[in-house]
Amino acid sequence: MAKGENASKQEASAASEADDLEAQLGVSRATAEKLRETHYDNLETLATCMPQELAIAIEMSEDTALKVITAARKQVEASFETGNAIMEQRLKIEKITTGSEELDKLIGGGIETQAITEAFGKFGSGKSQLGFQLCVTAQLPREQGGLEGAVLFIDTEGTFRPERISQMAEARDLDPAKILSNIHVAQAMNSDHQMFLTEKAENLIREKKIRLIIVDSLTATFRSDYLGREMLNERQHKLNKHIHLLLKYARNNNLAIYVTNQVMDNPGMMFGDPTTPIGGHVLAHTSTYRLYLRRSKEDRRIAKLVDSPNLPDGECVFRVTPDGLAD
Ligand SMILES: Nc1ncnc2c1ncn2[C@@H]1O[C@H](COP(=O)(O)OP(=O)(O)O)[C@@H](O)[C@H]1O
Ligand SMILES: [Mg+2]
Repeated sequence: MAKGENASKQEASAASEADDLEAQLGVSRATAEKLRETHYDNLETLATCMPQELAIAIEMSEDTALKVITAARKQVEASFETGNAIMEQRLKIEKITTGSEELDKLIGGGIETQAITEAFGKFGSGKSQLGFQLCVTAQLPREQGGLEGAVLFIDTEGTFRPERISQMAEARDLDPAKILSNIHVAQAMNSDHQMFLTEKAENLIREKKIRLIIVDSLTATFRSDYLGREMLNERQHKLNKHIHLLLKYARNNNLAIYVTNQVMDNPGMMFGDPTTPIGGHVLAHTSTYRLYLRRSKEDRRIAKLVDSPNLPDGECVFRVTPDGLAD
């Protein structure tokens, strides 16, 4: 299909979606257009959002937002599933090895699909190293702890290092060029850009058969874009939305998500407990697995699993070697 034709078709379908919204929600043409400019352009998203969130996103009063949401909810049936259906979905969960047997054991066999695994810790604790390692192991055959899949990497701190990944690939006798060709990297310049990249990733995820998404770091841009207490609410709102989109990808595509979250060294720069990771409770409740990483002697790292829904809390030691993660 010609490019122009494709674009005009997309425009036409978007326009009819806005028309639909107008009718389905009983809103004005102008409001429907505004909704269409954001990604609150479908009933499912509208039905599951909060009035405050929508009010901020499209600059309307909370009363109006509530009316729109209520109208959307009337159109969307609440979805309850049986325990069996959920069990069936969970049986499809697969795991990616971290390269360290001890670490794998701690988290129940590896980084899981259909879930978000968060590593939090100070600078240099090994969060990015684990990400690089997963870029390699995700591509391994299943019998070696991989998913034979491609990787999507959102780098927000400019610390993505292909040469380090090559080094880890070579250590496993893999062709570094081939490994790198299956890693799709984007640099996020700020939190909005990070959200935009994530929203736009849907097609790529399907086309390239992405089985692992890494966001390193998940929270850094949000931290610098929303400074101070008065912006905390908005920051948590946005972060929450971002995380839920990631979780949706994880569930719909049976892929794994690995995100990092830096703990501030300087207690003066944080509110409250300096060991509390940025993102606070929003992230705590949505990351299915949370690993607290810290440096120990030499190349050793201590990983602590916290608040898992189905695994006991515990600790293990692993190493960050030139070849990658090891016991
Ligand atoms: N090629 C390498 N060989 C061995 N260790 C390395 C190598 N590259 C990085 N490291 C180790 O990883 C540390 C950086 O960890 P990193 O995961 O980047 O930290 P962060 O938690 O801030 O993301 C370095 O201080 C070093 O100990
Ligand atoms: Mg890092």
